[in-house]
Amino acid sequence: MSLNEDPAFWASARKHLTRYSPGFESVIIERAEGSYVYDADGRAILDFTSGQMSAVLGHSHPDIIATVNRQMGQVAHLFSGMLTRPVVELAERLAALAPGLDRVQLLTTGAESNEAALRMAKLVTGKHEVVAFAQSWHGMTGAAASATYSAGRSGYGPAAAGSFAIPAPNSYRPRFANPDGSNDWQRELDDAFELIDRQSTGNLAAFIAEPILSSGGILELPLGYLAALKRKCEERGMLLILDEAQTGVGRTGDMFAFQRDGVTPDIMTLSKTLGAGLPLAAVMATETIEQAAFDKGFLFYTTHVSDPLPAAVGVTVLDVVERDGLVEQACVRGAQLRDGLLALQQKYECVGDVRGRGLLIGLEIVTDRQTKAPGFELGAKITEECMARGLSMNIVKLPGMGGVFRIAPPLTVSEAEIDRGLEIMSEAIGAAVASA
Ligand SMILES: Cc1ncc(COP(=O)(O)O)c(C=O)c1O
Repeated sequence: MSLNEDPAFWASARKHLTRYSPGFESVIIERAEGSYVYDADGRAILDFTSGQMSAVLGHSHPDIIATVNRQMGQVAHLFSGMLTRPVVELAERLAALAPGLDRVQLLTTGAESNEAALRMAKLVTGKHEVVAFAQSWHGMTGAAASATYSAGRSGYGPAAAGSFAIPAPNSYRPRFANPDGSNDWQRELDDAFELIDRQSTGNLAAFIAEPILSSGGILELPLGYLAALKRKCEERGMLLILDEAQTGVGRTGDMFAFQRDGVTPDIMTLSKTLGAGLPLAAVMATETIEQAAFDKGFLFYTTHVSDPLPAAVGVTVLDVVERDGLVEQACVRGAQLRDGLLALQQKYECVGDVRGRGLLIGLEIVTDRQTKAPGFELGAKITEECMARGLSMNIVKLPGMGGVFRIAPPLTVSEAEIDRGLEIMSEAIGAAVASA
């Protein structure tokens, strides 16, 4: 019997765990190292989701272990009004990486960082309406959940008053097309804001956006879109908040995804990748916005704000990313991954689209290339076949698109590991197609 079947473990899990999503994986993970997690049989499984899209340095990175051990022995947690050196150092380092966003608050999770950002935007503008993309994911708490449209809206009562959505641009399935068939995103954006203006009661506070919508199926904002969106915000006195939970800290081949576009947001939130798997988040704002918030008595006071342990981890993450050239690695390994996925698209009819940037790539499964009919079941089968062969992949299922694999290995992934992942994907797609 496989040790993953451990009847006592699963009986206890069934008896005591709340099922916070449709299901759990059927393996028991005992440990993780580098790009691999290891199950109860000692089987190595390639982790192409970086845990929950966070472990940019892979698992159990020696520098992170050393920092945690050192800082834990020194000071881990404090009264929230006390400051330590790692907190100020991380703030300074982040500000240097994102010129213009000089003021930094260190928090714990992505949802929490978006709560703080939205709260600040509301206080500073004196308004409360928030616009987001209809395929967004910003978190599971109050204001963040109100701005999350890709899942989880139904059944939880009213969202915050003044919550609006516009469609995210989708180059594979354009809603407005140019004569050559390409996505006319400017017309889509103009059309969307015309509707926002009709619905707004004159209280638009902020637009919150992911530069690449990840849970929304790896929808990349085309070059030029962010600048156009910022103009829409400026025209209405709204702040632009960029949520770089998944795209920040090198993943897309830039330190922050917004840098490709040369458009600095008013507020940026970082989480997931900043702690490389440990709970750490940051809200970064311009000096003017932070000053205006402070003048109005800004309050976002939490138990773990400015905790020194995660802050020290954040400093080490930035050290390792810089020392090991991981932003460049995201480009190099990303290009290798993309080339391999494009080869799979040549080989298999069911691979409808390959998109994304750096080491955040989407692969959309369809049942028909012409009609682009969604291939949810096939996608689920491919996921299963990958896992059986030792590759952990995640598929997004959203209405209006096919199953989309979100492929995001650690930035430390090796050339051989990318090749191995591609080999498994090819075998898995072949097996799934054969059994369909
Ligand atoms: C872009 C984005 N923002 C925010 C969140 C929420 O982060 P957390 O789960 O840490 O609250 C997520 C989580 O997937 C995310 O992808």
